[in-house]
Amino acid sequence: MLTNIDLNKMNHLMEQNKDTKQIISQLLENHHTAVSMIAHEIRNPLTLVSSSLQIMEAQHPEVKEFHNWKLMMEDVRFMCDLLNQLSTFNNSSTLHHSVFSIEKLLKNISVSFAISLDASDCDIEFSSKIASGMGDFTGDKIKLEEVLLNILQNARDAVGESGSIFLSAERLSDSIVIRCRDTGCGIPDERIDTIFDMFVTYKENGTGLGLSSAKRIVEAHGGALTVDSVPDKGSVFTVTLPA
Ligand SMILES: Nc1ncnc2c1ncn2[C@@H]1O[C@H](COP(=O)(O)OP(=O)(O)OP(=O)(O)O)[C@@H](O)[C@H]1O
Ligand SMILES: [Mg+2]
Repeated sequence: MLTNIDLNKMNHLMEQNKDTKQIISQLLENHHTAVSMIAHEIRNPLTLVSSSLQIMEAQHPEVKEFHNWKLMMEDVRFMCDLLNQLSTFNNSSTLHHSVFSIEKLLKNISVSFAISLDASDCDIEFSSKIASGMGDFTGDKIKLEEVLLNILQNARDAVGESGSIFLSAERLSDSIVIRCRDTGCGIPDERIDTIFDMFVTYKENGTGLGLSSAKRIVEAHGGALTVDSVPDKGSVFTVTLPA
């Protein structure tokens, strides 16, 4: 797996030599297409298997008593999630730009997130402070929404049953700064350099693609995604976007 250091070396080589740039670009494009095709070809039959199992379970509830049925359903769901996340990651650098209000987007996300917390049985306090008048923003609205949902979902996982999550956004002179602060488990020092790498997860059912996709999307917008964390106290994820 290529690390960020390898990618920097590759970019350096590409800058130095035109032929190298062309060959690496072609290889990256082939790789991108191969991942898309494999994900697509596996997802179709897997979706069919998943739907058939759900229908079977609805029509014959007794199958739930079968040995390992629950585990099998969870595995199928995990494979569907993994393929969806893999497609998101693979497409994270291809942006479809539009002009939209980032204030509205963040307020909508906050409302949906608050509703999802209310619907669950947890004791998580969520609040947000989204500045008014941040103006129009040009970027990929759907992908930025994915970024924020990933970060909020991680905060929720980190907080567990009780704690607080705070989302804020403001416009500075040349950037928009969005912060998600949580009072969750925090990230140990030895893990902090790994969490943005692909497939790095410390959760039982995680794919480890959430933050790597989020970082790629933010960087494709010319921005940065950073983290500050204190173990057992909480974490702050900051998205900075050029405005
Ligand atoms: N707010 C947070 N607090 C503590 N740890 C975090 C936080 N956000 C991310 N992490 C750590 O970073 C790891 C990688 O996060 P990432 O979103 O890439 O994958 P994941 O959440 O494990 O899996 P998935 O996103 O597929 O559910 C997590 O497993 C977790 O250990
Ligand atoms: Mg995640």
